[in-house]
Amino acid sequence: MEKRSWSSQWGFVAAAAGAAVGLGNIWSFPRYLEQHGAPFLAAYLIMAVLAGWPLLMAEIAVGRDTGCGARGAFKELCGSALPGWAAECASLLMMGFYSVLGGCCLRYMLINLAGVFSGGAGGGLGLFLGYISNVPLSALFTVLFIAAAAVITAAPVRSGLERFSKFAVPLLALMLPGLIACSLRLPGAESGIAKMFAVPEQGGIAGTIDMLGDAACQLFFSLSIGQGVMALYGAYLPREASIPKCALAVVAADTLIAVLAGFAVVPAAEAAGGGGGTMMMFTAMQEVFASLGSWGAMFGFLFYLLVLLAALTSAVSLLEVVGTWAGAKAGRKQAALFAAALSAVPAIAIARDGLGFGALPEIFGLSWLSAAELASEGILMPAAALAMAFALRRRSGSELLRRQLGYAAGRCTGLAMRSAAVVLIAAALCARIL
Ligand code: PHE
Repeated sequence: MEKRSWSSQWGFVAAAAGAAVGLGNIWSFPRYLEQHGAPFLAAYLIMAVLAGWPLLMAEIAVGRDTGCGARGAFKELCGSALPGWAAECASLLMMGFYSVLGGCCLRYMLINLAGVFSGGAGGGLGLFLGYISNVPLSALFTVLFIAAAAVITAAPVRSGLERFSKFAVPLLALMLPGLIACSLRLPGAESGIAKMFAVPEQGGIAGTIDMLGDAACQLFFSLSIGQGVMALYGAYLPREASIPKCALAVVAADTLIAVLAGFAVVPAAEAAGGGGGTMMMFTAMQEVFASLGSWGAMFGFLFYLLVLLAALTSAVSLLEVVGTWAGAKAGRKQAALFAAALSAVPAIAIARDGLGFGALPEIFGLSWLSAAELASEGILMPAAALAMAFALRRRSGSELLRRQLGYAAGRCTGLAMRSAAVVLIAAALCARIL
């Protein structure tokens, strides 16, 4: 893919925050918060500071030092491109399920837009199951989502990805408080707030390990670590930009938006009768919008629009990574087209499987969605991050960190690569495999 360059360090921060803030913040963070309550929030925040931030700094530093994306960076760092391939394959798989969920947001946004004019939209589990079991329809919206992401990816970086992220991420942060205010006014919302701060029975040591594993996986997914995205973006970060500050801004924005999304989604899900499971964002939330008539439809339209914007900036980062497979000579348009076509393969398979609600035979007892999640978030991402942490523990790795991050931040990050980061990675690996 053609070389990019950010207009400034803030251009980089906007794009990296755009990659980080996505469905992870709005689709998965609130459901973990609802399930595990305050201990999850505390574990997540501690892990974000002690391991997420250092890992993010390390990946950006590796990208800037080597000037390459994951494959090239790993080749230089540890003599083998294999962990780089693992990271980039994780991006492709993730783009598969991400596009189906993104297409679903697009569909729900349109359903609510229509509802604004017709006095309200429908909702609940029936609407969701009806959509995902209609394979031609869900495949169509999936492809539309991929096409929208490809159009942004194909544009020159400064006028495409950077400009889009600069408006999408702040817009999301600005609109969330309005959504929270609406959610909190719903009858029954208080029990959602109580659940977020409750200390539920975690089910002994096994339950606590499970909760810690969920927090670790969520952190990887949410900060987009171990997929080659941050290394690739870091490769074009100007030398004078401070990586510790940029990475801190990304972690802070990502965490803030996740917590705000928790306040918007969990109370609304409780108001809709509680639970909602993995697809709470489409079932419980839409039930709330449906119950509020035209205003609810307006509220729903804005909500899904926001989620769609967030999902698009993340999808663009995934396409950027997969697009590097088109080779160094490919232009941005060719690379984006190549990446979009390749991503459509897992995406359509997952849409065909009805997002895990089961039209295709299972893979080792898992739905296609769960298998793609397990392979990308649970195995490939942590494995690539582990390889990076080990490579950075060598002398040349420590020197790289000090060169890119400065003496103090370089040493602290090196220390984290030997301790907290490894614990986090191990927790993420064990959580999904065991
Ligand atoms: N961080 C994104 C989210 O929270 C997902 C993602 C992971 C995007 C890895 C790119 C790379 O939704």
